[in-house]
Amino acid sequence: MTVKDQNIDRFLRVDHAGELGAKRIYEGQIAVLKNHPVAEEIQHMKDQEQEHLDTFENLLNDYQVRPSVMTPFWNVAGFALGAVTAAMGPKAAMACTIAVEEVIGEHYDDQAKSLDDDEADLRATLLKFRDEELEHRDTAVDHDGEQAVGYPVMRQIIQVGCRTAIKLAERY
Ligand SMILES: [Fe+2]
Ligand SMILES: [Fe+2]
Repeated sequence: MTVKDQNIDRFLRVDHAGELGAKRIYEGQIAVLKNHPVAEEIQHMKDQEQEHLDTFENLLNDYQVRPSVMTPFWNVAGFALGAVTAAMGPKAAMACTIAVEEVIGEHYDDQAKSLDDDEADLRATLLKFRDEELEHRDTAVDHDGEQAVGYPVMRQIIQVGCRTAIKLAERY
């Protein structure tokens, strides 16, 4: 196995775990905010995360890469993060989305830039997803996520958590 193969293994493992986490965040938010008008917007983002997740599930199979052993944890942690932020109100839910999607957008951008033309298809997929994550971020800004009480602290805590999760899911 070459160094390059190992990188792709890590990329696909962490991306699959991240998309599961993202989908579960939105499911947690919808569980709390289902009767709020903002639920429709969250549902749209969740549908896109499902597409992203399905794509990485197929890629794990194609490249014969094992998923993260922490998958059950990502499943629970994602839902909990979504439910807890939504319980603090729609603006806090949107603040969570800003924080998470900023990190994921940056993460896909870094991955895409490290791939060469041999992996042009995967690179194109990552760039498409990057753009969609940044659209989610913009949606959350439009819904006043930055006006949530304690926004700067919340953003900071969630982003540290996301970056730690990325490091873990690459390896484990
Ligand atoms: Fe996604
Ligand atoms: Fe997203």
